[in-house]
Amino acid sequence: MEKILIDGGKPLVGEIETSGMKNAALPIIFGCLLVKDRCVIENLPEIDDVEVSLQILADMGARIEQIDRTTYAIDCTKVRGGSSSLELVRRLRASYYLLGAEIGRYGKAYVGSPGGCDFGCRPIDQHIKGFEALGCTVRMDGNYVEAVAHSGLQGTNIFFDLVSVGATMNVMLAAVCAPGVTVIENAAREPHIVDLANFLNTCGGQISGAGTDTIKIKGVTELHGCSYAIIPDMIEAGTYMIAAAATGGRLKITNVIPKHLESITSKLCEMGVTVTEGDDFVEVSLEGKLTRTNVKTLPYPGFPTDMQPQMAVLMCLADGISKMHESVFDNRFRYTEELIRMGALIKVSGKTAIIEGKPALNPARVRAVDLRAGAAMVIAGLATKGVTEIDNIRLIERGYDDLVGKLRNCGADIRKESVG
Ligand code: UD1
Repeated sequence: MEKILIDGGKPLVGEIETSGMKNAALPIIFGCLLVKDRCVIENLPEIDDVEVSLQILADMGARIEQIDRTTYAIDCTKVRGGSSSLELVRRLRASYYLLGAEIGRYGKAYVGSPGGCDFGCRPIDQHIKGFEALGCTVRMDGNYVEAVAHSGLQGTNIFFDLVSVGATMNVMLAAVCAPGVTVIENAAREPHIVDLANFLNTCGGQISGAGTDTIKIKGVTELHGCSYAIIPDMIEAGTYMIAAAATGGRLKITNVIPKHLESITSKLCEMGVTVTEGDDFVEVSLEGKLTRTNVKTLPYPGFPTDMQPQMAVLMCLADGISKMHESVFDNRFRYTEELIRMGALIKVSGKTAIIEGKPALNPARVRAVDLRAGAAMVIAGLATKGVTEIDNIRLIERGYDDLVGKLRNCGADIRKESVG
């Protein structure tokens, strides 16, 4: 067990290179299961969730070869369907992509129920609705999900009841090799949906419309190996943009697609932060005071729920009263209790947090209650004079590649220490 210690109150100044996107890397890694060939995946972030996903495939019989720090060759030719480790699968939310990938490859799946961050109830009914529409019978007991297409898979029209990133990608995985045409309506439009479609198309899939709310998939008989580079992580980049603003610093964040950051950039500008966009970088600085704003989280291209806790920290430091409304998940405000320990003035009522800004927070001992909440604690610690201690940092390491190293390079006094 380790904790992070931050002696904060110093502006972050310098350059940070964004790593590959976690939420694109994971479905693409599991998507390799559909391919009886070698796929070389580049720009994978060095994070625990990627390591666990690769381990799950390796345990199932995949040949995994690390080519350099961020590039792996994954060959799933000899994988045994239905053999994933329950213990590993439970460590990840994204392990639900094994369901779609096994259905796509074998016409059946047997996978443990997924784990992941606790944001209240996280059902997978829309994933199941999609698999059933493709011809599967799905059974769930407490531990496992089993799907079988007794008469084979068949392309079809699927209209999701709500916009779900996971269900959209899972149905893409299940349908890419299903005979006929599958049309997903009310699909999620996140950049990682486009990235998964691009990966599958590079392997010979025929998917169009990804990035809009209607995705069309013409089933192909087989996919072939490819080389593919994951897109940059907009949530990692957004986290460092907010860290620059919260510390009154100046950061150039490279290897980004500025268009993916627009909802974050526009809120930062509203709050008085200067954001300059280049072709593949953004530069973020704050000179004056932060001003209040309101934010409502929404599916892409709206403000991402995965940036909600980090943005709340900025609101804690802004002049005036801000409102944060979470409209994607039921319960994503558990971290506010940790910020309150640091002196933040936050009242949560249902899905809205009312945040009264103040010039500074106090250092305290706090916990990462989930991945992005942990990133928010790091930002709060960086912005606060004195030593903030953050426990439970394995949750942060699930999703941030070399967070401590990247921040130290920009002048942060931050280190990891073993506990006990
Ligand atoms: C993914 C991301 C997560 C991000 C979220 C929203 C991964 C591994 N995780 O999570 O980081 O916060 O997208 O951008 O990529 N829902 C249902 N039934 C379903 C599916 C979803 O009711 O079958 C609900 C969820 O409970 C939630 C909302 O729909 O309230 C959106 O969830 P979804 O987009 O599916 O998020 P995840 O795939 O779980």
